[in-house]
Amino acid sequence: MSEKALSIENLTVTYGGITAVKNISLHIMPGEIVTLIGANGAGKSSTLKAIMRLAKSTGEIQALGQSVIGKETHEIARMGVALVPEGRAIFGNLSVRENLELGAYVKREAEGMKKRFGEVVELFPRLGERMSQNAGTLSGGEQQMLAIGRAMMAEPRILLLDEPSLGLAPKLVMEIFAAVRAIAKKGLTILLVEQNTRLALETAQRAYVLVSGEIALSGNAAELRHDPRVKDAYLGDSAHA
Ligand SMILES: Nc1ncnc2c1ncn2[C@@H]1O[C@H](COP(=O)(O)OP(=O)(O)OP(=O)(O)O)[C@@H](O)[C@H]1O
Ligand SMILES: [Mg+2]
Repeated sequence: MSEKALSIENLTVTYGGITAVKNISLHIMPGEIVTLIGANGAGKSSTLKAIMRLAKSTGEIQALGQSVIGKETHEIARMGVALVPEGRAIFGNLSVRENLELGAYVKREAEGMKKRFGEVVELFPRLGERMSQNAGTLSGGEQQMLAIGRAMMAEPRILLLDEPSLGLAPKLVMEIFAAVRAIAKKGLTILLVEQNTRLALETAQRAYVLVSGEIALSGNAAELRHDPRVKDAYLGDSAHA
């Protein structure tokens, strides 16, 4: 059995005739933050969807030493994997509290629920002040907090984050990323998909760069931050711009 928290081997994701991800392999060690970066359409979300069996794929994916192939999404959630999807997908007509309760659907015992509510509020005090508010009336940043908080209610061991900074003001982005670091400190394993390459490389220990569905580069995040190929293409401080 592998000691890796998450391992992907020869993953290919296709939509009809379109190949979105081509034969990629990657892994994450327990407690690591690993980022998957790349331009629009590179295949980042498709990779996360394949892990949750929300996209058709071939190849092997193991989470916590167990294959997810042939499993249903809710079974994978029960194994301890949670996805915070791009665009957040919270229930706007339900309150903050109700959204959080829904996140706990795989872990419902009253005792644990109370503890996890406490942990989410500790992570995002703003949510604590807004438990009865309709989620649809939250600001964009608060909705992102709620989406992450909802995922945490299932007490996952692996958290898949799809573009948590999307559309947020810099101050909120910093708050969200502080929470991501705090979550990693609790011992969770995090796969972070981001278009904010600079911030992603500052937050993660390792990174994979996806280009047109293939891994073009990978390695230590701090080293990739200084790699001219990354700087030119993703950090916007190219010497020959
Ligand atoms: N349901 C679908 N049907 C057909 N093609 C799809 C579908 N979902 C994604 N694709 C295509 O697969 C490719 C990869 O998309 P994906 O959403 O994985 O990219 P991404 O890296 O997450 O991009 P972004 O940064 O814009 O979110 C794109 O060309 C996209 O158009
Ligand atoms: Mg995407």
